[in-house]
Amino acid sequence: MMVMRHDEAMTVTVRALQADDADVARRLGEEAFGVPVTPPGEPASIDQAGFHWYGSFAGGVLAARMIDREFDSYFGGAAVPTCGIAGVTVAAEFRSRGLLSALFTETLGAAKERGAAVSTLFPTAPAIYRRFGYELISSFDTVQVPTHVLASVPASGAVEVRRAHPADLDAIRTIYDVWAQEQNGPLSRRGISFDDSAADLLDRPDGVSVAVDPAGTVSGFARWSRGQGYGDEASLTVVDLLATSADGYRGLLRTLGSFSSVTARTRIDTSGNDLVRLFVPSAHWEIMHAAPYMLKVLDVCAALDRPCLPGLTADLTFMLAGDFLAGNNGGYVLELANGRTGCSRASTVEAQQPRTFTPAGLAQMYAGAQSSANLRVAGHLSGGDPNQDLVWDAVFGGRQTHIRNFF
Ligand SMILES: CC(C)(COP(=O)(O)OP(=O)(O)OC[C@H]1O[C@@H](n2cnc3c(N)ncnc32)[C@H](O)[C@@H]1OP(=O)(O)O)[C@@H](O)C(=O)NCCC(=O)NCCS
Repeated sequence: MMVMRHDEAMTVTVRALQADDADVARRLGEEAFGVPVTPPGEPASIDQAGFHWYGSFAGGVLAARMIDREFDSYFGGAAVPTCGIAGVTVAAEFRSRGLLSALFTETLGAAKERGAAVSTLFPTAPAIYRRFGYELISSFDTVQVPTHVLASVPASGAVEVRRAHPADLDAIRTIYDVWAQEQNGPLSRRGISFDDSAADLLDRPDGVSVAVDPAGTVSGFARWSRGQGYGDEASLTVVDLLATSADGYRGLLRTLGSFSSVTARTRIDTSGNDLVRLFVPSAHWEIMHAAPYMLKVLDVCAALDRPCLPGLTADLTFMLAGDFLAGNNGGYVLELANGRTGCSRASTVEAQQPRTFTPAGLAQMYAGAQSSANLRVAGHLSGGDPNQDLVWDAVFGGRQTHIRNFF
């Protein structure tokens, strides 16, 4: 527990929430994010798997709260323990008094202790989180395409598309796992925060269709929801669309296109540079909703312990400056050897003007979201030998940045 004196008028206590804080924590959330259309039937609870709630109390009143959600995210081929920040709320009367600073100190400190190496969140406004070292790395978007366009995707005789069975569950999960591991950013969809049962995957949307190649292997899946009504205003919603082959993508898109007489539009949840777009014949790809996604490197050395290109050998030194978590600031050395990246603290970084990242710069480099050249322009990278920039870009680049779960 931490006690902070914010100003002369207000003493604030920050602590993990307890069961009897659940009601007021829910009310605060409803004030911020809106009251649900259907009132919750269950009593308020903070006892959910993988949720760690923290609150700031002023004069005994819950003035602010947030949640650390336990995930793993893939970065650089490694599953990185992640603190997913959610439900950030300051009560209306306590806003603009800087309450978030102590709340973030406590929550991120505890997340780091439980092993989280990065922290991510979906901001309602990025500026709220930049001072804590978060920066935009991707966006979880819903795009709209006229359904008749999907019907015109060239046929692929090589795959059959059929409704998924419970027996397809492992294959579907593996397609996601393999895809996620090859990107930067996606959650693992494994572990404490995810339900592994078939019901979770197969029963919730209206349908899950799978593409099956001539050898009988599942080579793609689409989870879709038919929605209400039919005609010009109706939409088919696709919450997952992934395949392991071009034929898999074509087969699934054509199947979705078969709804063109009843749902004029198809809405697809997507992120980054989605391969799906390579199979859409027309230029239609209208972003209907965008949820920007931010990252902060929480534990620099733990986050950078990951695979690297075998044969690449280098010692790369750098500094982190300006992190809100002051213990993170200072020198580091990144050792690339034997197909692995290791990172340790450097007591001295040799160079008059060492390569120095801001927290935002480190977040973007880590996620492969921006090149060194772009980070220099934005003021998030300075010093070091610019001739070495391409080495850094090679180490951190080569993967697309994605996120396919909202929290
Ligand atoms: C967003 C919210 C948590 C901020 O609370 P707060 O008490 O104003 O936060 P703090 O006083 O600690 O920090 C304020 C800083 O956040 C930034 N900020 C706050 N709201 C912002 C907004 N809507 N747009 C841009 N920046 C914003 C400002 O840069 C401000 O910095 P400043 O002090 O230099 O002006 C609060 O307004 C709230 O609960 N809003 C409704 C729910 C919500 O949007 N939560 C965020 C979910 S991701």
